[in-house]
Amino acid sequence: MKTAVVTGASSGLGTEFVRQIPEIFPEVECLWLIARRREKLEQLAAEVPEGLSTLCLTLDLCDPMSFAALQERLSAEKPELSLLVNCAGCGYLGRVGEMALSDQCRMIDLNVRALSAVTAMALPYLPRGGRVLNVSSIAAFCSNPRMTVYSASKAYVSSFTLGLGEELKARGAAATAVCPGPMRTEFLDAGGITGNSRTFELLPYCDQVRVAGGALRAARAGRGVYTPRAFYKFYRAAAKLVPQQLMVKLTGT
Ligand SMILES: NC(=O)c1ccc[n+]([C@@H]2O[C@H](COP(=O)([O-])OP(=O)(O)OC[C@H]3O[C@@H](n4cnc5c(N)ncnc54)[C@H](OP(=O)(O)O)[C@@H]3O)[C@@H](O)[C@H]2O)c1
Repeated sequence: MKTAVVTGASSGLGTEFVRQIPEIFPEVECLWLIARRREKLEQLAAEVPEGLSTLCLTLDLCDPMSFAALQERLSAEKPELSLLVNCAGCGYLGRVGEMALSDQCRMIDLNVRALSAVTAMALPYLPRGGRVLNVSSIAAFCSNPRMTVYSASKAYVSSFTLGLGEELKARGAAATAVCPGPMRTEFLDAGGITGNSRTFELLPYCDQVRVAGGALRAARAGRGVYTPRAFYKFYRAAAKLVPQQLMVKLTGT
């Protein structure tokens, strides 16, 4: 069955991906929704158009046992993956020497380890024409002091996606990294960012509905990177031209 798998489907950008997949990937017959909050996943599943089946998988992707559960499900169902969206992610504000170690590890476990593991497990089921869409961030363009671990984790996501995309060419598939600027989602409160970062107060915000649509279209077209908004396209270009040692003096959060 032609399937789309979305991690982090229970809120924010992930929910928007699920809402827009039926329009942009109309061949998809089944949606797998992954996150920890079952109730939210079930509410979303109830919204999908008739004729599209859903499977809600309540998994904590920071727990390696979740990989075994997903692996088992993939082997049992053998889906044909039209699309994998790795959207689950978290970002905590704070200096490396001051913030809780558990928060630092959670960012690495979810943004780096889980994203890589889910992708590796999904690839055997990705056919010719299949798409992987990884949610990176503008934080990937240059290190962001006070979000140093987060920005390093997203630099990994962008680098991983670039290499993966090249590997997938041989089998006629593609990988896309989407790099949004700040969005008004639960991410801001969960990460202790709300009210604590002047940078986040000043930056232009991205609308997650538009980001999701643009990213899905970019994935469909097989583009390697998609950066929403002209302001952040300019920032991405500047971060390539200006030495990182200089950039990092301006990119603190
Ligand atoms: N918002 C921004 O400003 C911004 C900017 C650039 C990039 N991003 C990226 O966009 C992506 C989506 O974030 P968002 O803004 O939509 O934030 P969000 O509303 O907080 O969504 C995060 C999603 O990840 C899931 N998640 C968190 N921990 C998990 C775990 N341990 N296991 C499984 N799922 C987990 C959450 O579901 P449960 O809590 O139900 O598990 C939720 O569905 C992230 O990768 C983030 O880094 C966000």
